[in-house]
Amino acid sequence: MSAPERAEASGRKRLGILLSGRGSNFVAIADAIADDRLPGAEIAVVISNKADAPGLAAARARNLNAVSIEARGRKRAEHDAEIIACLREHQVDLVCLAGYMRLLSQEFVAAFPQRILNIHPSLLPALPGLDAQQQALDYGVKVTGCTVHFVDEQLDHGIIILQKVVPVQDEDNADTLATRILQQEHIAYAEAIARVLSGQYRITGRRYLLDHAS
Ligand code: GAR
Repeated sequence: MSAPERAEASGRKRLGILLSGRGSNFVAIADAIADDRLPGAEIAVVISNKADAPGLAAARARNLNAVSIEARGRKRAEHDAEIIACLREHQVDLVCLAGYMRLLSQEFVAAFPQRILNIHPSLLPALPGLDAQQQALDYGVKVTGCTVHFVDEQLDHGIIILQKVVPVQDEDNADTLATRILQQEHIAYAEAIARVLSGQYRITGRRYLLDHAS
């Protein structure tokens, strides 16, 4: 059976995961599917811009399609075009950035409108960008957390789907804080994917609102 035929036959929504490193959020999503917490989903392909990303090895260990598309020495548009082609080849419905540490081009965002999710380790719009956990300590915030949001053309800016709050403790360093945030990330990402795949939401301005059955 070809990839499109398999996609059609399964009736499941197909996720494309993009990662650059460890891949614990990817593993949490894969576990949620295995545990039936994401019953309507399957992972179609895992793509990394780093050939040696541990997350890619984790995908291979799970017998998933794992593809390395190296970014080094290439223009963003060209690199993104190859990723878009790979996602299309695997009939991906929803793209999930899971520690993918590259900005997406406008063409990429336009290729999957409101179909790209990202997870960020802070309560956006606070503390965007790199090292959000260290930023939280440096600023002295008392609560931080994680955000799952749609991706748009700006960094850590798209419409927020859900957030989880994590208190900052006096004893925290960046590692201990990152560990507690990561526990919440793993819960939040599967929840957010389930919400988006359900289709039972509407967007008003910047607000993502759940439709409730009457
Ligand atoms: C996660 O904490 C994720 O929120 C963060 O990178 C880590 C990846 O961990 N992403 C960003 O900071 C994106 N702005 P993982 O590879 O174990 O999933």
